[in-house]
Amino acid sequence: MPTITVIDRSGAARDVEAKSGMSVMEIIRDNGFDELLALCGGCCSCATCHVHIDPAFADKLPKMGEDENDLLDSTDTRDANSRLSCQIPVTDAMDGLTVTIAAED
Ligand code: FES
Repeated sequence: MPTITVIDRSGAARDVEAKSGMSVMEIIRDNGFDELLALCGGCCSCATCHVHIDPAFADKLPKMGEDENDLLDSTDTRDANSRLSCQIPVTDAMDGLTVTIAAED
């Protein structure tokens, strides 16, 4: 089972077990990081699951869809490593990935 490191808004890092097939958003939420609101439940319509991804893993993640790209444009904190965590299914190739919960808009 891959392990993902989650960095919260205070800068604290915690390693969590990530089950393949779940989304990164579900992994973060189910491990008690309540600052990741994920208000739409993973339907790609809210952008409250915004995270910054370790760029070393960029090529191991699925390509960004048009809806995700548009939603990220609506945030004030987008950078080159921004993704919506609900749009990233966990795979074994993500073992060691670090994701940082984006600052609140
Ligand atoms: S949970 Fe709403 S866009 Fe990801």
